[in-house]
Amino acid sequence: MCSPFFGTWYSAMMTVAEPVFIRPTRNTLLAGARGRVLIIGLGPGHDLPYLPDAATSVTAVEPNPTMRAVAAARAQRHGIAVDIHAAFAEDLPFADNSFDTVVLPLVLCSVQDMSAALAEVRRVLQSDGQVLVLEHVHAGSEGPLNRVIGATQDAMERPWMALTDGCHPNRRTQEALRKAQFDVSGLRRVVPRGLVPSPMSILLVGRAFPAAA
Ligand SMILES: C[S@@+](CC[C@H](N)C(=O)[O-])C[C@H]1O[C@@H](n2cnc3c(N)ncnc32)[C@H](O)[C@@H]1O
Repeated sequence: MCSPFFGTWYSAMMTVAEPVFIRPTRNTLLAGARGRVLIIGLGPGHDLPYLPDAATSVTAVEPNPTMRAVAAARAQRHGIAVDIHAAFAEDLPFADNSFDTVVLPLVLCSVQDMSAALAEVRRVLQSDGQVLVLEHVHAGSEGPLNRVIGATQDAMERPWMALTDGCHPNRRTQEALRKAQFDVSGLRRVVPRGLVPSPMSILLVGRAFPAAA
């Protein structure tokens, strides 16, 4: 997950793909960020320019040094103060209840242990905090098209992971969030405008909240 090749390739690819396919969804989602914000898996930093004034501080974790360098340069270009940590979602270097908003931007596909990562998100998030979710996910089994896409995602998992530094194309992210005690009723599945349903285009988007105990 720290390959310099992937860091360089992904950053270059997203320079073109992000504005066309992801930006409108990301922009709308991030408009809801508030308070102390933690971005997990910052990557090349495309979230940074869309954070509203209501975000009072910005912290990020990103294990890949190539991505960290690209994100730091993007932050500097946009005049955004961000504290970037070389750390993993599964072991966040922050105290309990440190953040009001945690952003999960296309990262749960890549973490090694999704339940450990979500337990850490739950720990560092205030009890009245929110999680902003933008993740590509398994197509599920509703209807023939989703079943075909889901079977394709399952079949391509190993080769895809080898090509993309460990990205799982078939994560059941909504179920994992629910198991980690998040209220997922604010999440919805979308296919970005300009794309057709395919193994990488089914996104889970919206806000999740710590479920009442
Ligand atoms: C598909 S990229 C997404 C990057 C960026 N968030 C975006 O929206 O374009 C996945 C990112 O997650 C990072 N990552 C992988 N495993 C991680 C982990 N265990 N904890 C935190 N970040 C991780 C990768 O280094 C990479 O930057």
